[in-house]
Amino acid sequence: MKHFVNLMDIKTTDLKKILKDAKKRKAKRKNFNTLDIDKGAPLKGKILIQMFEKPSLRTRLSFYLAIRQLGGGTITLRSNELHLGKGGESLADTAKILSTYGDGFMLRTNSNKKINEFIKFLKIPLINGLSPSSHPTQILSDIFTIEEIKKKPISKLNICWIGDSNNVLNSLIAASVKFSFKLKIGCPKKYRPNKFILDWVKKNHKFIYIFDDPKKAVRNADVIFSDKVISLNDKVNIIKKKKDFKKYIIDNNLLKLAPKSIFLHCLPRGDEVSDQVFLGEKSRVWEQACNRVHVQKSILLYCFGKLR
Ligand code: CP
Ligand code: NVA
Repeated sequence: MKHFVNLMDIKTTDLKKILKDAKKRKAKRKNFNTLDIDKGAPLKGKILIQMFEKPSLRTRLSFYLAIRQLGGGTITLRSNELHLGKGGESLADTAKILSTYGDGFMLRTNSNKKINEFIKFLKIPLINGLSPSSHPTQILSDIFTIEEIKKKPISKLNICWIGDSNNVLNSLIAASVKFSFKLKIGCPKKYRPNKFILDWVKKNHKFIYIFDDPKKAVRNADVIFSDKVISLNDKVNIIKKKKDFKKYIIDNNLLKLAPKSIFLHCLPRGDEVSDQVFLGEKSRVWEQACNRVHVQKSILLYCFGKLR
């Protein structure tokens, strides 16, 4: 049994194995219907319990399809309908019950501490479906999308992030170390990535490039990422923060500096990207969303100890 909580803690060989498996599985599904089951139904009889403490469209649906296509099933819990959410049952007892009824637990939470607590008490794999500090399933899937579109290992590409230093960026930074790719970040000085992740990068003898000027970050990038300026866990002055990011909006003028680039965004979007870019020819956001199903299937197999 293996958890999938933070890319920082997962071996590169395992991450690469997951991507390889996803590529094979995706290719084999060319003529399949949405709910057709992969050959061998590797997760037949297994149930993934999903719990969301915050909204989700893509993560919820893509995990539903992922486990179904592997022959298993899923149930989605709303945290406010559990005793735990109402303060009427301990996390330890909840975790034991989840482990009794379920085979895997996917959690989207407002609390990093809760993830660590669940790890302590669960007897089944835990998958982090977004926490305040990371979004690992999203970024691993995005690496799959990039390699699929660019037909090159990500280590040979220049990756750029323009925007807030949030959970998605933390996972992208972790991936830049694990997969050895060049990462340039463009963000205002006071919104730079936190010291914890930068120290971790240093400890791993890697380097990331951070610029105040978005133009410097974008120049000659192969991939440009962005995400909402205001994340789900952000408790900030929204008007002020949006103003601070005004010159970081991704528009066609900025993209001219990276003529070969594609644009990616985990969604949902805010106003950090213009409609012309988001709906334009460089944007690959719909394929990006679709690939989450394929990669999460292989993440589930990794967690269940069934990765070939
Ligand atoms: N990208 C992403 O995680 O989307 P949801 O919040 O809709 O799950
Ligand atoms: N950074 C965003 C990602 C949403 C998928 C958030 O945490 O709200």
